[in-house]
Amino acid sequence: MNLIRPGFLFLQRRVRPEFSLADLLGGGAGVVRHDEWVALAPHLGREVVLEAADIPVFEVVTPGQARPRAELAALFGEARIDRLVDAGLLIGDHAEHQPLRAREQALRETAWWGPAALAQVFGSWRDVDVEADESRDGGRSWKEMIGTHGPPPPEAPELRPRTSWQALPMPGRSALGALLETRSTCRNFDRSHPLPLADASTILHRVFGAQATQTVAPDVVALKKNSPSGGGLHPVEAFVLVQDVDGLAPGLYHYHGVAHALVPLRLLEEDAIAPLAGELVAGQSWFANAPVLVLMAARFQRTFWKYRQHAKAWRVILLDAGHLSQNFQLAATELGYGAFVTAAINDDCAERLFELDGISTGAIAVCGFGRRSDSAANIEFDPLGKAVR
Ligand SMILES: Cc1cc2nc3c(=O)[nH]c(=O)nc-3n(C[C@H](O)[C@H](O)[C@H](O)COP(=O)(O)O)c2cc1C
Repeated sequence: MNLIRPGFLFLQRRVRPEFSLADLLGGGAGVVRHDEWVALAPHLGREVVLEAADIPVFEVVTPGQARPRAELAALFGEARIDRLVDAGLLIGDHAEHQPLRAREQALRETAWWGPAALAQVFGSWRDVDVEADESRDGGRSWKEMIGTHGPPPPEAPELRPRTSWQALPMPGRSALGALLETRSTCRNFDRSHPLPLADASTILHRVFGAQATQTVAPDVVALKKNSPSGGGLHPVEAFVLVQDVDGLAPGLYHYHGVAHALVPLRLLEEDAIAPLAGELVAGQSWFANAPVLVLMAARFQRTFWKYRQHAKAWRVILLDAGHLSQNFQLAATELGYGAFVTAAINDDCAERLFELDGISTGAIAVCGFGRRSDSAANIEFDPLGKAVR
């Protein structure tokens, strides 16, 4: 077997506190602190605790040039090399490591900037249930948080004495101003009857649809959308989970923004889709109930084609998703619907449902919309009292 080191490998020196009965019985605080090395490699997506003596192995093995396992075992000992292979930190050419090699290759070919790859992959959730966690641990009230952390930074920073401030005239009334005031996150959906297809279609077109296309170079088609996009590449795609839309079979779709068409990926019974919606939005039942959910997933490869291993490229993609989510809320609000965006999603579920590898294309956030329910069982923030019910 030949072994390589992964192209992206970050080491963190970390202090891990651990409960210790012996320490407690000996008159201590009952907590011992372990100082340890942790390896973070995006092709793995999970942390691996290292021994200090593992680190020199990574000086000898390079990403580009494979070394025979036997040679490394002779240098560092069989047990150490086998442990690093089992952990996936040394990648072999054997069948078992095929998925790791594929992820490693995808990371390289997608032209990720290493720290961004780390944040994207390690920020990914699997099997998180926000609502269950909150009911188990108790939601944290403002008061509790202030008790633990002190008050938050003030709502608006004051950088100079007030006497120096220049007061500004208030804006006049406008249709845009009124629309913006009407938007507020919806956490209570009315599912008594299906959504009209025309409304879902309008929202998808306004937010994710190409308003125009232009061939700017051979094989390069620029899209004009209703929101800006770093590098003009519009890498964020809409993957739609339909629960209840008139004339649309419940299921999973990709929205083709140029053709303005839904591409069915997997059609499902309505009762089969509800648990998937719940898993997708990490158990947040107040969002899972929306008749339409839209996963915003980035084709990182498209933006990184231009901005290769670029320190700002990932940031630009997240900003793109932010613009899209605001447009989504505005487009839904204009039609009288409630909408939301959440980043608290199980990326693993998103990627499984919509067949994404998480590296060349990965989940960013989920938006959803629907009719607002009359009853506000879940908390909403509408101090202006303008949300349309
Ligand atoms: C990126 C992003 C992520 C959010 N994630 C959640 C979430 O996970 N759960 C939730 O209930 N609300 C979520 N929200 C909604 C915010 O709580 C909400 O926007 C905020 O409280 C302000 O209220 P408003 O949108 O009604 O003005 C998110 C908002 C944004 C912009």
